[in-house]
Amino acid sequence: MPNKSLAEAEYNQFRLFLEQHSGIVLGDNKQYLVRSRLAPLMGKYNLPSLSEVVKHSMKPTERQLRAEVIDAMTTNETLWFRDRYPFELLGNTLLPEYSRLGRPLKIWSAACSSGQEPYSLAMTILEYQQKRPGTLPGSASILATDLSPSMLEKCKSGEYDSLALGRGLSEERKRQFFDATANSTMTIKPNVKRLVNFRAHNLLESYTLLGKFDIIFCRNVLIYFAPEAKAKILRQFAAALNPKGILFLGASESIAGLTEEFDMVRCNPGIYYQKRN
Ligand SMILES: C[S@@+](CC[C@H](N)C(=O)[O-])C[C@H]1O[C@@H](n2cnc3c(N)ncnc32)[C@H](O)[C@@H]1O
Repeated sequence: MPNKSLAEAEYNQFRLFLEQHSGIVLGDNKQYLVRSRLAPLMGKYNLPSLSEVVKHSMKPTERQLRAEVIDAMTTNETLWFRDRYPFELLGNTLLPEYSRLGRPLKIWSAACSSGQEPYSLAMTILEYQQKRPGTLPGSASILATDLSPSMLEKCKSGEYDSLALGRGLSEERKRQFFDATANSTMTIKPNVKRLVNFRAHNLLESYTLLGKFDIIFCRNVLIYFAPEAKAKILRQFAAALNPKGILFLGASESIAGLTEEFDMVRCNPGIYYQKRN
């Protein structure tokens, strides 16, 4: 019987390692989560115990295992047009304003999971352009990043099963933006895909090579991070935004006490944060 137990000291060491490398903070007594997420790697790497998986993953030389362990510890829950209001606000209010920019709009979906967020942004842009042909000159480009290599693979394939498709997509959007495949999945159409570039990026690392953005979506990821990491990420977002740029966080997330660089804009429903200058 493979040994899936983890001593308290090992668990604490692993928590620290995970926080340093991904920002994700594991609470007390979450050994069960580590067990369920990492046990499959015992067989894959032919290691006799969970303790060995954890120990090896913390060695800098074990790059592949380390990446897979961090990947397995991420929570990838997502859906199409999540919470609706950010996308409605984009289509109804922000895109008409940004149409006057006279250059392509630049959006960053930071921590994009399996792609539902950036592809929902792309669909919102295409719907706006269909309603008002000729507006949004130069169109828009969306950079979508995540720490997880397995999620980025999923994003790039653009293929979703009926379970994923059933979460937040109308029949009309399925018809318009997806092609059916032979095995009852659907793939994102090329005109939607063309608007999105995917790239591996860890929010704890530098953002300088990513460029500048008009809008950043970073939703439902900072909840897993400690306040100091959140504050640093928010500082970097402010630096990565153009003047008056906009930041959307998750519906339950807030910047209170973490940064002074944004004004909160209430839009009922929902809020967004606008860079001060
Ligand atoms: C719960 S999903 C949120 C997806 C999407 N933004 C949404 O709101 O539906 C969180 C994502 O954050 C990613 N993530 C976790 N830590 C990260 C880090 N340090 N850098 C970049 N992405 C990270 C995970 O891989 C996961 O895909």
